[in-house]
Amino acid sequence: DALTDFIRRLPKAELHMHVEGSLEPEMMFDLARRNRIALPFPNVEAVRAAYSFSRLQDFLDIYYQGAAVLRTEEDFHDLALAYFRRAAADGAVRCEIFFDPQTHTDRGLPFGVAIEGLLSGMAAAETELGLSTGLILCFLRHLPEDAALDTLKAAEPWLDRLLGVGLDSSEAGFPPSGFQKVFKAAGERGLKRVAHAGEEGPPAYVAEALDLLKVDRIDHGNRALEDDDLTARLVREGQVLTVCPLSNLKLCGVPSLEVHPLKRMLQLGLKATVNSDDPAYFGGYLLDNWVQTARAVGLEREHLVTLARNSLEGAFWTEAEGAPHL
Ligand code: HPA
Ligand code: ZN
Repeated sequence: DALTDFIRRLPKAELHMHVEGSLEPEMMFDLARRNRIALPFPNVEAVRAAYSFSRLQDFLDIYYQGAAVLRTEEDFHDLALAYFRRAAADGAVRCEIFFDPQTHTDRGLPFGVAIEGLLSGMAAAETELGLSTGLILCFLRHLPEDAALDTLKAAEPWLDRLLGVGLDSSEAGFPPSGFQKVFKAAGERGLKRVAHAGEEGPPAYVAEALDLLKVDRIDHGNRALEDDDLTARLVREGQVLTVCPLSNLKLCGVPSLEVHPLKRMLQLGLKATVNSDDPAYFGGYLLDNWVQTARAVGLEREHLVTLARNSLEGAFWTEAEGAPHL
């Protein structure tokens, strides 16, 4: 229909998508077969039926389990390329993807396997689809900062091919303040910095991400709205929020899409963007997130153009690329 076509044609960037979260049940079974791994599910329907979550941790438990079928560079290449095809069909021009190396190194994969496979999938997307892509390494915050420092060290040979670092996994009880050393080290190596904050954690975690980790974007940020001073600061500083409406719905951050704060964020002047987070688990890719949320909260064309512009301006373009204008 007209709304879907309008949104599809808007040039836009996806800035918050965990590539392990784009593993569709069909590919999970294909990779399990290819790698001779037994799955604890009889078929894809049973996998999908297990995707019912009441909070972030419910999802994370099953997401880390699903990632176990990823074993070879080819697996990571195929995973990334399948996502990029969906994103390109949705009208994305730029995709900055997250990956969680510790999920893979902790089960014995060499560090290079995931990153080489993903970089190869990104190269294929650039030539095949004309997409601009970037890679962000996320540290798991439920693990100690020393493990994050070891991960940054293991990434040393690939730093020139990384856009930046992020912070994800279980938020409550794992504040940004625990990761100051590794974020400082990443900044000194020329990497951009982002962190999940205010998804389930309190507004104070959003302030910590800005003040202590010096982040260039906030992933989610929803709970910042509970603090008027913090909200005013985010507006004043033009901080980009990578909001994920279907994720918020599936993890019960909002009771329905109709009451999602995206429109309020735009009305307040926050630089919000729309993203899919973990599309295979939350029931929608980039365009699904845009269209369903636009319908549910009643976004006008000008809101949609603003969201697309925010995503292009919030992307970490290199100087050579430069940000396209909308
Ligand atoms: N939040 C925290 N960690 C994650 C998420 C998320 O939405 N997706 C994948 N890892
Ligand atoms: Zn996320």
